[in-house]
Amino acid sequence: MTTLITHIKLLAGIYAGHEPLRGKDLASLASIEDAFLLIEDGVIAAFGHMYELELMVPQQPAHVIDASGRIILPAWCDSHTHLVFARSREDEFIDKIRGMSYAEIAAKGGGILNSARRLQETSEDELFRLAWQRLQEAAAQGTGAIDIKSGYGLTVASELKMLRVIKKLKEKSPVTVKASFLAAHAYPEAFRDDHEGYIRQIIDEMLPVIAAEQLADYVDVFCEKGFFSVDEMERICRAAAAYGLKPKLHVNQLNSIGGIEAAVKLGAVSADHLETMTDDDIRILSASSTIGTLLPSAAFFLRMPYQPARQLIDAGTAIALASDFNPGSSPSFNMNFVLSLGCIQMKMLPEEAINAATINGACAMELSRELGSIALGKRANLIMTRPVPSLAYLPYAFGSNHIEQVMIDGVFV
Ligand code: NIG
Ligand code: FE
Repeated sequence: MTTLITHIKLLAGIYAGHEPLRGKDLASLASIEDAFLLIEDGVIAAFGHMYELELMVPQQPAHVIDASGRIILPAWCDSHTHLVFARSREDEFIDKIRGMSYAEIAAKGGGILNSARRLQETSEDELFRLAWQRLQEAAAQGTGAIDIKSGYGLTVASELKMLRVIKKLKEKSPVTVKASFLAAHAYPEAFRDDHEGYIRQIIDEMLPVIAAEQLADYVDVFCEKGFFSVDEMERICRAAAAYGLKPKLHVNQLNSIGGIEAAVKLGAVSADHLETMTDDDIRILSASSTIGTLLPSAAFFLRMPYQPARQLIDAGTAIALASDFNPGSSPSFNMNFVLSLGCIQMKMLPEEAINAATINGACAMELSRELGSIALGKRANLIMTRPVPSLAYLPYAFGSNHIEQVMIDGVFV
């Protein structure tokens, strides 16, 4: 099918490359005013100024959409979510309002272990049904590609169950899905005093099945005091590397314990969270090809200091923005709100936030050759806004829905 979109107020995010944008380049969001865009078989086939249309598209297709007043930009690439879970946790939300910390809730068997108990009791079909609904809704809010983690199973059977749900989402949804294996999310109750035993399960019992059934693209570890140490993370990542899984890691959320240095050494595709960064952490990350993925809605929800986006950008780190959608620390997959937090709380320019949530998010899932920007030959995963006064209006007018339609592979969803 061929679709022509005409009179686009602003076609934003034009970038033919596939490398992440860093430093000053992060603020450059190439755009065309009063533009057209031609999509053929799900792929961007041509674009330009309206005055070039007749010359560039002499034969206009039957399917033409007038986008007067509207902005078109690449769909969000949400490179960090925990979208598969059994139940929400608003009871802990109340505990937090009453004064308990995230760490205190986790220590009394709440948090991740709470989600694991629920997930273990829930069937694969039910988990898929719940996750499917969430994924549809995320797509309607502009997400065209997503990374989804396991990590609420914490037993061999339940981790594999989660990954099979993610694999089914991947097969059935038009949204591009990547799967990250996160059994090292927390030590299950049974292994509280036997870390070695659980690590052996991960390495000897889970990884071989994951490799045989191709259930994951990446390995993830929650490297944090009270969770997994740097040494434990390194062991798990090395074992996963033997099966071809690269790391995408949870580091520096609550404490700086050497996770960044290890992530860079392990060649991690991304190091995610980064609420707690030392100057050394910033220096090491900026000199690497590992993407720093900032999750400001987790900081917002947990009332933590926001990630040092400005320092990271100024140091030249390639940063991405993602939602961290999960029931414990970020019960929202609204990337529009993440963009607003990036601008309001972390002083990112609207252009920087959009690049971080699109092309750099695509890089954090190794999808940037096909997604994340407006470029000839890239897949047509696009957001068409409602009529809006300007690009900056999107993060500025937070909390409202500015999206009129979302296109995935050339089809409006
Ligand atoms: O990314 N920090 C670790 N994992 C999740 C939260 C998990 C939970 O509380 O259920 C996160 O924030
Ligand atoms: Fe997370």
